[in-house]
Amino acid sequence: MRKGKILIGLLAAMIISIVAVGCSSKTSQPVAFRAEIAPGTLSVDEYAKYYPKQYDTFMKTAEMSNEGSKYGGSEEFDKLTQWPFLKEIFAGYGFAIEYNEDRGHNYTIEDVTKIKRINEKSIASCWTCKSANVAGVVEEMGDAYYGANFHDLKGKMTEGITCANCHDPQTMNLVITQPPLRDTLTRLGKDPDKLTTQELRTMVCAQCHVEYYFAGDKKIVTFPWDKGLTPTDVLEYYEEKDFSDWTHAKAGVREIKAQHPEYETFMGSTHAEAGLSCADCHMPYTMNGGEKISSHWWTSPLKHMNESCLTCHREGEEALKERVFYTQDKVADMMAKVGNVTVEALEAIAEADAKGGNQDALKEARALQRKGQFLVDWVGAENSMGFHNPQLIMETLNTSMDYAYQAINKATESITGVAAPKWDVEAPKTNTETMKVLHDKENAPKS
Ligand code: HEC
Ligand code: HEC
Ligand code: HEC
Ligand code: HEC
Repeated sequence: MRKGKILIGLLAAMIISIVAVGCSSKTSQPVAFRAEIAPGTLSVDEYAKYYPKQYDTFMKTAEMSNEGSKYGGSEEFDKLTQWPFLKEIFAGYGFAIEYNEDRGHNYTIEDVTKIKRINEKSIASCWTCKSANVAGVVEEMGDAYYGANFHDLKGKMTEGITCANCHDPQTMNLVITQPPLRDTLTRLGKDPDKLTTQELRTMVCAQCHVEYYFAGDKKIVTFPWDKGLTPTDVLEYYEEKDFSDWTHAKAGVREIKAQHPEYETFMGSTHAEAGLSCADCHMPYTMNGGEKISSHWWTSPLKHMNESCLTCHREGEEALKERVFYTQDKVADMMAKVGNVTVEALEAIAEADAKGGNQDALKEARALQRKGQFLVDWVGAENSMGFHNPQLIMETLNTSMDYAYQAINKATESITGVAAPKWDVEAPKTNTETMKVLHDKENAPKS
Protein backbone atom coordinates (compact mmCIF):
# COMPACT_ATOMS: atom_id res chain seq x y z
CA MET A 1 0.00 0.00 0.00
CA ARG A 2 2.67 2.46 1.12
CA LYS A 3 4.95 1.30 -1.64
CA GLY A 4 2.29 2.13 -4.23
CA LYS A 5 1.97 5.63 -2.91
CA ILE A 6 5.73 6.14 -3.10
CA LEU A 7 5.83 4.83 -6.66
CA ILE A 8 3.13 7.23 -7.80
CA GLY A 9 5.01 10.03 -6.08
CA LEU A 10 8.26 9.02 -7.75
CA LEU A 11 6.57 9.03 -11.14
CA ALA A 12 5.07 12.44 -10.46
CA ALA A 13 8.46 13.78 -9.46
CA MET A 14 10.03 12.35 -12.60
CA ILE A 15 7.40 13.93 -14.78
CA ILE A 16 7.93 17.25 -13.05
CA SER A 17 11.66 17.09 -13.63
CA ILE A 18 11.26 16.07 -17.26
CA VAL A 19 8.95 19.02 -17.86
CA ALA A 20 11.36 21.32 -16.06
CA VAL A 21 14.34 20.42 -18.21
CA GLY A 22 12.29 20.53 -21.36
CA CYS A 23 12.20 16.81 -22.20
CA SER A 24 15.89 16.74 -22.99
CA SER A 25 17.87 13.54 -23.20
CA LYS A 26 19.50 12.58 -19.94
CA THR A 27 23.05 12.64 -21.21
CA SER A 28 23.41 16.18 -22.50
CA GLN A 29 22.26 19.38 -20.94
CA PRO A 30 19.76 21.52 -22.77
CA VAL A 31 20.80 25.02 -23.66
CA ALA A 32 17.76 26.58 -22.11
CA PHE A 33 19.31 29.94 -21.37
CA ARG A 34 21.57 32.29 -23.27
CA ALA A 35 22.49 35.51 -21.52
CA GLU A 36 25.10 38.10 -22.24
CA ILE A 37 27.09 37.33 -19.13
CA ALA A 38 30.79 37.44 -19.97
CA PRO A 39 32.79 34.24 -19.43
CA GLY A 40 34.57 34.35 -16.09
CA THR A 41 31.95 36.61 -14.46
CA LEU A 42 31.81 35.83 -10.75
CA SER A 43 29.66 38.53 -9.20
CA VAL A 44 26.12 37.49 -8.24
CA ASP A 45 24.83 40.96 -9.17
CA GLU A 46 25.52 40.33 -12.83
CA TYR A 47 23.53 37.04 -12.84
CA ALA A 48 20.74 38.56 -10.76
CA LYS A 49 19.85 40.87 -13.66
CA TYR A 50 18.88 37.89 -15.82
CA TYR A 51 17.68 35.42 -13.20
CA PRO A 52 16.02 37.49 -10.48
CA LYS A 53 13.79 34.61 -9.32
CA GLN A 54 16.64 32.18 -8.63
CA TYR A 55 18.55 35.08 -7.08
CA ASP A 56 15.63 35.80 -4.72
CA THR A 57 15.82 32.31 -3.27
CA PHE A 58 19.64 32.36 -3.29
CA MET A 59 19.61 35.39 -0.98
CA LYS A 60 17.57 33.46 1.58
CA THR A 61 20.77 31.63 2.58
CA ALA A 62 21.36 34.73 4.70
CA GLU A 63 18.32 33.87 6.84
CA MET A 64 19.16 32.51 10.25
CA SER A 65 16.68 30.06 11.65
CA ASN A 66 16.47 26.55 13.03
CA GLU A 67 12.71 26.37 12.60
CA GLY A 68 11.49 22.88 11.83
CA SER A 69 14.85 21.29 12.48
CA LYS A 70 16.15 19.42 15.52
CA TYR A 71 19.83 18.82 14.78
CA GLY A 72 20.47 21.04 11.75
CA GLY A 73 19.44 24.58 10.95
CA SER A 74 21.41 27.70 10.24
CA GLU A 75 22.27 29.00 13.68
CA GLU A 76 25.93 28.39 14.41
CA PHE A 77 25.54 26.73 17.81
CA ASP A 78 28.70 25.39 19.40
CA LYS A 79 29.17 21.69 18.70
CA LEU A 80 31.73 21.33 21.51
CA THR A 81 29.11 22.28 24.10
CA GLN A 82 26.48 19.98 22.65
CA TRP A 83 28.94 17.07 22.31
CA PRO A 84 31.51 17.26 25.10
CA PHE A 85 33.36 14.19 23.76
CA LEU A 86 34.43 16.19 20.70
CA LYS A 87 36.55 18.56 22.76
CA GLU A 88 38.43 15.56 24.19
CA ILE A 89 38.97 13.64 20.97
CA PHE A 90 40.33 16.75 19.18
CA ALA A 91 42.82 17.67 21.96
CA GLY A 92 45.88 19.30 20.43
CA TYR A 93 44.03 20.30 17.24
CA GLY A 94 42.14 23.42 16.14
CA PHE A 95 38.74 21.75 16.29
CA ALA A 96 39.03 21.59 20.10
CA ILE A 97 39.19 25.40 20.13
CA GLU A 98 36.11 26.23 18.06
CA TYR A 99 33.74 23.98 16.11
CA ASN A 100 30.31 25.27 15.02
CA GLU A 101 27.23 23.99 13.24
CA ASP A 102 27.26 25.07 9.59
CA ARG A 103 25.40 28.17 8.38
CA GLY A 104 24.09 29.32 5.02
CA HIS A 105 26.28 29.82 1.92
CA ASN A 106 25.95 33.56 2.43
CA TYR A 107 28.33 33.38 5.40
CA THR A 108 31.26 31.35 4.06
CA ILE A 109 33.78 34.20 3.86
CA GLU A 110 32.71 35.73 7.17
CA ASP A 111 32.84 32.38 8.97
CA VAL A 112 36.17 31.19 7.63
CA THR A 113 37.73 34.55 8.47
CA LYS A 114 36.48 34.76 12.03
CA ILE A 115 36.80 31.14 13.20
CA LYS A 116 39.46 30.77 15.90
CA ARG A 117 40.86 27.67 14.16
CA ILE A 118 42.45 29.99 11.60
CA ASN A 119 45.78 31.32 12.92
CA GLU A 120 48.75 33.12 11.39
CA LYS A 121 50.10 29.84 9.98
CA SER A 122 46.87 28.67 8.27
CA ILE A 123 47.15 27.80 4.61
CA ALA A 124 45.19 28.99 1.58
CA SER A 125 43.63 25.52 1.16
CA CYS A 126 41.08 26.68 3.74
CA TRP A 127 39.61 29.13 1.20
CA THR A 128 38.89 26.31 -1.23
CA CYS A 129 35.17 25.73 -0.67
CA LYS A 130 34.32 29.25 0.47
CA SER A 131 34.77 31.42 -2.62
CA ALA A 132 34.05 31.55 -6.35
CA ASN A 133 37.48 33.10 -6.85
CA VAL A 134 39.32 29.88 -6.09
CA ALA A 135 39.20 28.27 -9.54
CA GLY A 136 40.73 31.39 -11.12
CA VAL A 137 43.39 31.72 -8.43
CA VAL A 138 44.41 28.07 -8.88
CA GLU A 139 44.65 28.65 -12.63
CA GLU A 140 46.90 31.62 -11.96
CA MET A 141 49.10 30.16 -9.18
CA GLY A 142 48.95 26.43 -9.91
CA ASP A 143 49.55 24.06 -7.00
CA ALA A 144 51.39 26.83 -5.14
CA TYR A 145 47.94 28.17 -4.19
CA TYR A 146 47.20 25.41 -1.68
CA GLY A 147 50.20 25.79 0.62
CA ALA A 148 50.37 29.61 0.39
CA ASN A 149 49.56 31.62 3.50
CA PHE A 150 45.83 32.00 4.10
CA HIS A 151 46.08 35.71 4.93
CA ASP A 152 48.23 36.55 1.89
CA LEU A 153 45.38 35.51 -0.41
CA LYS A 154 42.60 37.27 1.46
CA GLY A 155 42.60 40.17 -1.03
CA LYS A 156 41.93 37.77 -3.90
CA MET A 157 38.81 36.27 -2.32
CA THR A 158 36.38 39.02 -3.25
CA GLU A 159 33.36 36.73 -3.72
CA GLY A 160 31.65 34.12 -1.58
CA ILE A 161 29.91 31.16 -3.23
CA THR A 162 28.23 32.60 -6.34
CA CYS A 163 26.30 31.34 -9.36
CA ALA A 164 29.68 30.81 -11.05
CA ASN A 165 30.53 27.95 -8.67
CA CYS A 166 27.99 25.73 -10.45
CA HIS A 167 26.92 27.39 -13.70
CA ASP A 168 28.44 28.27 -17.03
CA PRO A 169 27.74 32.02 -17.27
CA GLN A 170 26.46 31.96 -20.83
CA THR A 171 24.30 28.83 -20.99
CA MET A 172 23.64 28.35 -17.26
CA ASN A 173 24.45 24.67 -17.80
CA LEU A 174 25.78 23.02 -14.66
CA VAL A 175 29.58 22.74 -14.55
CA ILE A 176 32.17 21.40 -12.16
CA THR A 177 34.44 24.35 -11.42
CA GLN A 178 36.20 23.43 -8.18
CA PRO A 179 39.74 22.17 -8.94
CA PRO A 180 39.83 19.42 -6.25
CA LEU A 181 36.75 17.65 -7.65
CA ARG A 182 37.96 18.06 -11.23
CA ASP A 183 41.36 16.59 -10.27
CA THR A 184 39.85 13.71 -8.29
CA LEU A 185 37.37 12.67 -10.99
CA THR A 186 40.12 12.84 -13.61
CA ARG A 187 42.43 10.71 -11.42
CA LEU A 188 39.65 8.13 -11.10
CA GLY A 189 39.09 8.03 -14.86
CA LYS A 190 35.90 10.08 -15.02
CA ASP A 191 35.71 13.19 -17.22
CA PRO A 192 34.29 16.07 -15.12
CA ASP A 193 32.91 17.67 -18.28
CA LYS A 194 30.94 14.58 -19.34
CA LEU A 195 28.60 14.10 -16.39
CA THR A 196 24.87 13.76 -17.01
CA THR A 197 22.47 16.40 -15.71
CA GLN A 198 21.23 13.91 -13.14
CA GLU A 199 24.80 13.28 -11.92
CA LEU A 200 25.51 17.01 -11.88
CA ARG A 201 22.50 17.66 -9.64
CA THR A 202 24.53 15.83 -7.00
CA MET A 203 28.10 16.45 -8.15
CA VAL A 204 27.87 20.26 -8.04
CA CYS A 205 27.38 19.79 -4.28
CA ALA A 206 30.17 17.19 -4.12
CA GLN A 207 32.52 20.03 -5.08
CA CYS A 208 32.49 20.94 -1.38
CA HIS A 209 30.24 18.69 0.75
CA VAL A 210 32.80 15.89 0.89
CA GLU A 211 35.63 14.37 2.89
CA TYR A 212 39.06 15.76 1.91
CA TYR A 213 42.64 16.03 3.14
CA PHE A 214 45.73 18.11 2.41
CA ALA A 215 47.99 15.80 0.39
CA GLY A 216 51.79 15.96 0.48
CA ASP A 217 54.12 18.90 1.09
CA LYS A 218 52.12 21.07 -1.28
CA LYS A 219 48.99 20.53 0.87
CA ILE A 220 46.79 19.99 -2.18
CA VAL A 221 43.11 19.55 -1.31
CA THR A 222 42.43 15.93 -2.34
CA PHE A 223 39.37 13.66 -2.08
CA PRO A 224 40.29 10.18 -0.75
CA TRP A 225 37.96 8.17 -3.00
CA ASP A 226 40.40 5.75 -4.64
CA LYS A 227 39.20 2.71 -2.66
CA GLY A 228 35.53 3.65 -2.59
CA LEU A 229 33.27 6.11 -0.82
CA THR A 230 32.22 4.35 2.40
CA PRO A 231 33.76 5.43 5.72
CA THR A 232 35.78 2.20 5.92
CA ASP A 233 36.96 2.53 2.29
CA VAL A 234 38.18 6.04 3.05
CA LEU A 235 39.82 4.88 6.29
CA GLU A 236 41.65 2.16 4.36
CA TYR A 237 42.93 4.81 1.94
CA TYR A 238 44.32 6.91 4.81
CA GLU A 239 45.86 3.82 6.44
CA GLU A 240 47.68 2.96 3.23
CA LYS A 241 49.00 6.53 2.94
CA ASP A 242 49.78 6.54 6.67
CA PHE A 243 48.20 9.99 6.71
CA SER A 244 47.49 11.92 9.87
CA ASP A 245 46.29 15.46 10.58
CA TRP A 246 47.76 15.79 14.07
CA THR A 247 48.96 13.86 17.10
CA HIS A 248 46.54 13.67 20.02
CA ALA A 249 47.82 15.86 22.86
CA LYS A 250 47.21 13.36 25.67
CA ALA A 251 47.34 9.91 24.10
CA GLY A 252 49.97 10.40 21.38
CA VAL A 253 47.69 8.90 18.72
CA ARG A 254 48.24 10.09 15.13
CA GLU A 255 44.65 11.10 14.34
CA ILE A 256 42.74 11.82 11.13
CA LYS A 257 40.06 14.56 11.13
CA ALA A 258 36.90 13.77 9.18
CA GLN A 259 35.42 16.75 7.28
CA HIS A 260 31.83 17.00 6.02
CA PRO A 261 31.18 13.80 4.07
CA GLU A 262 27.58 14.45 2.98
CA TYR A 263 28.16 13.19 -0.55
CA GLU A 264 29.96 9.98 0.41
CA THR A 265 27.41 9.18 3.11
CA PHE A 266 24.44 9.79 0.83
CA MET A 267 25.70 7.47 -1.92
CA GLY A 268 24.26 3.98 -1.52
CA SER A 269 21.39 5.19 0.67
CA THR A 270 17.73 4.35 0.09
CA HIS A 271 17.17 7.75 -1.53
CA ALA A 272 20.30 7.62 -3.69
CA GLU A 273 19.29 4.16 -4.92
CA ALA A 274 15.78 5.49 -5.64
CA GLY A 275 17.52 7.90 -8.04
CA LEU A 276 17.37 11.08 -5.98
CA SER A 277 20.04 13.79 -6.16
CA CYS A 278 21.01 16.38 -3.56
CA ALA A 279 19.03 18.96 -5.53
CA ASP A 280 15.81 16.92 -5.27
CA CYS A 281 15.54 17.63 -1.54
CA HIS A 282 17.74 20.70 -1.15
CA MET A 283 16.67 22.57 -4.31
CA PRO A 284 13.03 21.55 -4.86
CA TYR A 285 10.90 23.12 -7.55
CA THR A 286 9.12 26.05 -6.06
CA MET A 287 6.73 28.70 -7.35
CA ASN A 288 8.11 32.22 -7.49
CA GLY A 289 6.04 34.96 -9.07
CA GLY A 290 3.99 32.49 -11.12
CA GLU A 291 7.07 30.65 -12.41
CA LYS A 292 8.35 27.24 -11.41
CA ILE A 293 12.03 27.43 -10.54
CA SER A 294 14.63 25.41 -8.64
CA SER A 295 14.90 26.81 -5.15
CA HIS A 296 18.44 28.07 -4.48
CA TRP A 297 17.86 28.36 -0.74
CA TRP A 298 20.23 25.69 0.52
CA THR A 299 19.11 24.85 4.00
CA SER A 300 17.45 22.10 6.03
CA PRO A 301 14.71 20.55 3.82
CA LEU A 302 12.66 20.18 6.99
CA LYS A 303 11.83 23.87 6.50
CA HIS A 304 10.00 23.10 3.26
CA MET A 305 8.90 19.47 3.34
CA ASN A 306 5.88 20.15 1.22
CA GLU A 307 8.10 20.91 -1.78
CA SER A 308 11.00 18.58 -0.92
CA CYS A 309 9.36 15.42 0.38
CA LEU A 310 5.62 15.33 -0.06
CA THR A 311 5.99 15.09 -3.82
CA CYS A 312 6.77 11.40 -3.13
CA HIS A 313 5.74 10.76 0.47
CA ARG A 314 2.04 10.95 1.10
CA GLU A 315 1.99 10.26 4.84
CA GLY A 316 1.80 13.95 5.71
CA GLU A 317 4.40 16.40 6.94
CA GLU A 318 4.14 15.75 10.69
CA ALA A 319 4.28 11.96 10.40
CA LEU A 320 7.24 12.04 8.03
CA LYS A 321 9.10 14.54 10.17
CA GLU A 322 8.62 12.22 13.14
CA ARG A 323 10.33 9.46 11.10
CA VAL A 324 13.26 11.78 10.42
CA PHE A 325 13.56 12.67 14.11
CA TYR A 326 13.26 9.00 15.07
CA THR A 327 16.34 8.22 12.96
CA GLN A 328 18.23 11.30 14.08
CA ASP A 329 17.51 10.71 17.80
CA LYS A 330 18.76 7.12 17.59
CA VAL A 331 21.89 8.20 15.77
CA ALA A 332 22.55 11.09 18.17
CA ASP A 333 22.21 8.88 21.25
CA MET A 334 24.39 6.17 19.77
CA MET A 335 27.00 8.71 18.67
CA ALA A 336 27.22 10.10 22.21
CA LYS A 337 27.70 6.59 23.62
CA VAL A 338 30.41 5.74 21.10
CA GLY A 339 31.99 9.15 21.64
CA ASN A 340 32.30 8.50 25.36
CA VAL A 341 33.95 5.11 24.83
CA THR A 342 36.29 6.79 22.33
CA VAL A 343 37.37 9.19 25.07
CA GLU A 344 37.81 6.28 27.50
CA ALA A 345 40.14 4.63 24.99
CA LEU A 346 42.25 7.81 24.82
CA GLU A 347 42.36 7.95 28.64
CA ALA A 348 43.31 4.27 28.87
CA ILE A 349 46.20 4.77 26.45
CA ALA A 350 47.46 7.94 28.16
CA GLU A 351 47.28 6.29 31.58
CA ALA A 352 48.96 3.06 30.50
CA ASP A 353 51.74 5.05 28.85
CA ALA A 354 52.27 7.13 32.00
CA LYS A 355 52.49 3.93 34.05
CA GLY A 356 55.19 2.53 31.74
CA GLY A 357 52.99 0.12 29.78
CA ASN A 358 54.50 -2.20 27.16
CA GLN A 359 55.18 -0.08 24.07
CA ASP A 360 54.34 -2.78 21.51
CA ALA A 361 50.88 -3.27 22.98
CA LEU A 362 50.43 0.50 23.22
CA LYS A 363 51.35 0.85 19.57
CA GLU A 364 48.54 -1.56 18.71
CA ALA A 365 46.15 0.26 21.04
CA ARG A 366 46.91 3.56 19.31
CA ALA A 367 46.38 2.05 15.85
CA LEU A 368 42.96 0.76 16.94
CA GLN A 369 41.94 4.02 18.62
CA ARG A 370 42.87 6.00 15.49
CA LYS A 371 40.49 3.93 13.37
CA GLY A 372 37.63 4.09 15.86
CA GLN A 373 38.02 7.83 16.28
CA PHE A 374 37.94 8.57 12.57
CA LEU A 375 34.67 6.63 12.21
CA VAL A 376 32.78 8.32 15.06
CA ASP A 377 34.14 11.68 13.90
CA TRP A 378 32.75 10.93 10.40
CA VAL A 379 29.26 10.58 11.86
CA GLY A 380 29.58 13.85 13.81
CA ALA A 381 31.07 15.76 10.89
CA GLU A 382 28.38 14.61 8.45
CA ASN A 383 25.69 17.25 8.68
CA SER A 384 22.41 15.27 8.54
CA MET A 385 22.69 13.43 11.88
CA GLY A 386 22.37 10.14 10.08
CA PHE A 387 19.38 10.98 7.89
CA HIS A 388 21.25 10.75 4.59
CA ASN A 389 22.00 7.05 5.19
CA PRO A 390 20.82 5.67 8.56
CA GLN A 391 21.91 2.09 7.92
CA LEU A 392 25.46 3.01 6.92
CA ILE A 393 25.79 5.46 9.80
CA MET A 394 24.65 2.89 12.40
CA GLU A 395 27.11 0.36 10.98
CA THR A 396 29.86 2.97 11.14
CA LEU A 397 29.12 3.73 14.80
CA ASN A 398 29.10 0.02 15.59
CA THR A 399 32.48 -0.53 13.94
CA SER A 400 33.84 2.52 15.75
CA MET A 401 32.67 1.22 19.14
CA ASP A 402 34.33 -2.13 18.42
CA TYR A 403 37.69 -0.45 17.69
CA ALA A 404 37.39 1.68 20.83
CA TYR A 405 36.86 -1.35 23.10
CA GLN A 406 39.69 -3.24 21.40
CA ALA A 407 41.94 -0.23 22.02
CA ILE A 408 40.97 -0.20 25.71
CA ASN A 409 41.75 -3.92 25.96
CA LYS A 410 45.16 -3.46 24.36
CA ALA A 411 45.99 -0.52 26.64
CA THR A 412 45.05 -2.64 29.65
CA GLU A 413 47.14 -5.51 28.31
CA SER A 414 50.14 -3.19 28.02
CA ILE A 415 50.10 -2.91 31.84
CA THR A 416 48.82 -6.33 32.96
CA GLY A 417 50.35 -8.48 30.24
CA VAL A 418 47.02 -10.31 30.06
CA ALA A 419 45.27 -10.24 26.69
CA ALA A 420 41.48 -9.95 26.60
CA PRO A 421 39.78 -13.25 25.74
CA LYS A 422 39.09 -13.88 22.08
CA TRP A 423 36.48 -16.15 20.59
CA ASP A 424 38.08 -17.12 17.32
CA VAL A 425 36.03 -20.00 15.90
CA GLU A 426 36.41 -21.33 12.40
CA ALA A 427 33.11 -19.96 11.16
CA PRO A 428 31.90 -17.04 9.07
CA LYS A 429 32.10 -13.80 11.06
CA THR A 430 29.12 -12.09 9.48
CA ASN A 431 25.77 -13.13 8.12
CA THR A 432 26.87 -12.00 4.67
CA GLU A 433 29.71 -14.54 4.83
CA THR A 434 27.36 -17.27 6.08
CA MET A 435 24.97 -16.65 3.23
CA LYS A 436 27.83 -16.81 0.77
CA VAL A 437 29.02 -20.17 2.15
CA LEU A 438 25.48 -21.58 1.93
CA HIS A 439 25.07 -20.21 -1.56
CA ASP A 440 28.40 -21.65 -2.73
CA LYS A 441 27.45 -25.05 -1.27
CA GLU A 442 24.12 -25.05 -3.08
CA ASN A 443 25.72 -24.13 -6.35
CA ALA A 444 28.67 -26.48 -6.07
CA PRO A 445 28.79 -29.00 -8.96
CA LYS A 446 27.04 -32.26 -7.92
CA SER A 447 29.39 -35.22 -7.94
C1 HEC B 1 25.70 24.99 -5.65
C2 HEC B 1 25.40 25.00 -7.04
C3 HEC B 1 24.56 26.12 -7.61
C4 HEC B 1 24.75 27.47 -7.44
C5 HEC B 1 25.81 28.16 -6.61
C6 HEC B 1 23.74 28.11 -8.22
N1 HEC B 1 22.96 27.19 -8.85
FE1 HEC B 1 21.49 27.56 -10.21
N2 HEC B 1 21.08 25.56 -10.32
C7 HEC B 1 21.76 24.56 -9.65
C8 HEC B 1 21.12 23.28 -9.92
C9 HEC B 1 21.55 21.92 -9.35
C10 HEC B 1 20.04 23.55 -10.80
C11 HEC B 1 19.08 22.53 -11.42
C12 HEC B 1 19.59 22.24 -12.80
C13 HEC B 1 18.89 21.11 -13.54
O1 HEC B 1 18.24 20.27 -12.93
O2 HEC B 1 19.02 21.09 -14.79
C14 HEC B 1 20.07 24.98 -11.05
C15 HEC B 1 19.20 25.63 -11.93
C16 HEC B 1 19.29 26.96 -12.28
C17 HEC B 1 18.57 27.59 -13.36
C18 HEC B 1 17.65 26.85 -14.34
C19 HEC B 1 16.17 27.11 -14.02
C20 HEC B 1 15.71 26.48 -12.74
O3 HEC B 1 15.26 27.24 -11.86
O4 HEC B 1 15.82 25.24 -12.57
C21 HEC B 1 18.90 28.92 -13.33
C22 HEC B 1 18.39 30.00 -14.28
C23 HEC B 1 19.82 29.13 -12.23
N3 HEC B 1 20.05 27.91 -11.63
C24 HEC B 1 20.34 30.35 -11.86
C25 HEC B 1 21.26 30.52 -10.82
C26 HEC B 1 21.69 31.82 -10.34
C27 HEC B 1 21.23 33.14 -10.88
C28 HEC B 1 22.58 31.59 -9.34
C29 HEC B 1 23.29 32.62 -8.48
C30 HEC B 1 22.45 33.64 -7.88
C31 HEC B 1 22.71 30.15 -9.20
N4 HEC B 1 21.86 29.55 -10.10
C32 HEC B 1 23.56 29.50 -8.30
C33 HEC B 1 22.87 24.73 -8.85
C34 HEC B 1 23.42 25.95 -8.48
C1 HEC C 1 31.90 26.01 -3.22
C2 HEC C 1 31.57 25.15 -2.11
C3 HEC C 1 30.14 24.69 -1.90
C4 HEC C 1 29.26 24.18 -2.85
C5 HEC C 1 29.49 24.01 -4.34
C6 HEC C 1 28.07 23.82 -2.13
N1 HEC C 1 28.21 24.12 -0.80
FE1 HEC C 1 26.79 23.96 0.65
N2 HEC C 1 28.03 24.80 2.03
C7 HEC C 1 29.34 25.15 1.79
C8 HEC C 1 29.91 25.70 3.01
C9 HEC C 1 31.35 26.17 3.19
C10 HEC C 1 28.88 25.71 3.99
C11 HEC C 1 28.96 26.22 5.43
C12 HEC C 1 28.90 27.72 5.45
C13 HEC C 1 29.09 28.35 6.83
O1 HEC C 1 28.85 27.68 7.86
O2 HEC C 1 29.53 29.52 6.85
C14 HEC C 1 27.70 25.14 3.33
C15 HEC C 1 26.46 24.97 3.94
C16 HEC C 1 25.40 24.27 3.36
C17 HEC C 1 24.16 23.95 4.04
C18 HEC C 1 23.80 24.32 5.47
C19 HEC C 1 22.94 25.54 5.45
C20 HEC C 1 22.34 25.87 6.78
O3 HEC C 1 21.41 26.69 6.76
O4 HEC C 1 22.78 25.34 7.82
C21 HEC C 1 23.41 23.22 3.16
C22 HEC C 1 22.04 22.62 3.39
C23 HEC C 1 24.17 23.09 1.93
N3 HEC C 1 25.36 23.77 2.07
C24 HEC C 1 23.73 22.39 0.82
C25 HEC C 1 24.38 22.40 -0.42
C26 HEC C 1 23.86 21.76 -1.61
C27 HEC C 1 22.60 20.93 -1.68
C28 HEC C 1 24.76 22.00 -2.62
C29 HEC C 1 24.66 21.59 -4.08
C30 HEC C 1 23.46 22.01 -4.80
C31 HEC C 1 25.84 22.79 -2.04
N4 HEC C 1 25.55 23.03 -0.72
C32 HEC C 1 26.96 23.25 -2.74
C33 HEC C 1 30.02 25.02 0.60
C34 HEC C 1 29.47 24.63 -0.61
C1 HEC D 1 15.89 12.63 0.61
C2 HEC D 1 16.20 14.02 0.78
C3 HEC D 1 17.64 14.46 0.87
C4 HEC D 1 18.64 14.26 -0.06
C5 HEC D 1 18.53 13.54 -1.39
C6 HEC D 1 19.82 14.90 0.46
N1 HEC D 1 19.55 15.48 1.66
FE1 HEC D 1 20.79 16.64 2.77
N2 HEC D 1 19.45 16.65 4.28
C7 HEC D 1 18.18 16.12 4.23
C8 HEC D 1 17.58 16.19 5.56
C9 HEC D 1 16.18 15.72 5.94
C10 HEC D 1 18.55 16.77 6.39
C11 HEC D 1 18.45 17.02 7.90
C12 HEC D 1 18.05 18.42 8.15
C13 HEC D 1 17.86 18.74 9.61
O1 HEC D 1 18.34 18.02 10.48
O2 HEC D 1 17.23 19.78 9.86
C14 HEC D 1 19.70 17.09 5.55
C15 HEC D 1 20.82 17.77 6.00
C16 HEC D 1 21.82 18.25 5.16
C17 HEC D 1 22.82 19.23 5.52
C18 HEC D 1 22.89 19.98 6.83
C19 HEC D 1 21.79 20.99 6.87
C20 HEC D 1 21.74 21.84 8.12
O3 HEC D 1 20.65 22.34 8.42
O4 HEC D 1 22.76 22.03 8.77
C21 HEC D 1 23.64 19.37 4.43
C22 HEC D 1 24.85 20.27 4.32
C23 HEC D 1 23.15 18.48 3.39
N3 HEC D 1 22.03 17.84 3.85
C24 HEC D 1 23.72 18.31 2.14
C25 HEC D 1 23.31 17.33 1.23
C26 HEC D 1 24.06 16.93 0.06
C27 HEC D 1 25.37 17.52 -0.36
C28 HEC D 1 23.34 15.94 -0.57
C29 HEC D 1 23.71 15.12 -1.77
C30 HEC D 1 24.98 14.43 -1.69
C31 HEC D 1 22.12 15.76 0.20
N4 HEC D 1 22.15 16.59 1.28
C32 HEC D 1 21.06 14.90 -0.17
C33 HEC D 1 17.57 15.59 3.10
C34 HEC D 1 18.23 15.22 1.95
C1 HEC E 1 11.59 11.27 -5.47
C2 HEC E 1 10.87 10.64 -4.38
C3 HEC E 1 11.28 10.92 -2.94
C4 HEC E 1 11.49 12.16 -2.35
C5 HEC E 1 11.44 13.53 -2.98
C6 HEC E 1 11.78 11.89 -0.95
N1 HEC E 1 11.74 10.54 -0.71
FE1 HEC E 1 11.95 9.62 1.11
N2 HEC E 1 11.84 7.80 0.22
C7 HEC E 1 11.58 7.58 -1.13
C8 HEC E 1 11.59 6.15 -1.39
C9 HEC E 1 11.35 5.49 -2.75
C10 HEC E 1 11.86 5.52 -0.15
C11 HEC E 1 11.97 4.01 0.10
C12 HEC E 1 10.61 3.38 0.25
C13 HEC E 1 10.04 3.59 1.61
O1 HEC E 1 10.77 3.48 2.61
O2 HEC E 1 8.82 3.82 1.72
C14 HEC E 1 11.98 6.57 0.84
C15 HEC E 1 12.20 6.35 2.19
C16 HEC E 1 12.20 7.35 3.17
C17 HEC E 1 12.26 7.12 4.58
C18 HEC E 1 12.44 5.79 5.25
C19 HEC E 1 13.92 5.46 5.11
C20 HEC E 1 14.46 4.45 6.02
O3 HEC E 1 15.64 4.15 5.80
O4 HEC E 1 13.78 4.03 6.94
C21 HEC E 1 12.23 8.36 5.20
C22 HEC E 1 12.30 8.65 6.68
C23 HEC E 1 12.13 9.35 4.15
N3 HEC E 1 12.09 8.71 2.93
C24 HEC E 1 12.09 10.72 4.37
C25 HEC E 1 12.11 11.67 3.35
C26 HEC E 1 12.21 13.10 3.59
C27 HEC E 1 12.28 13.76 4.94
C28 HEC E 1 12.22 13.70 2.36
C29 HEC E 1 12.35 15.18 2.06
C30 HEC E 1 13.45 15.89 2.70
C31 HEC E 1 12.11 12.65 1.36
N4 HEC E 1 12.07 11.45 1.99
C32 HEC E 1 12.05 12.87 -0.01
C33 HEC E 1 11.35 8.54 -2.08
C34 HEC E 1 11.45 9.92 -1.90
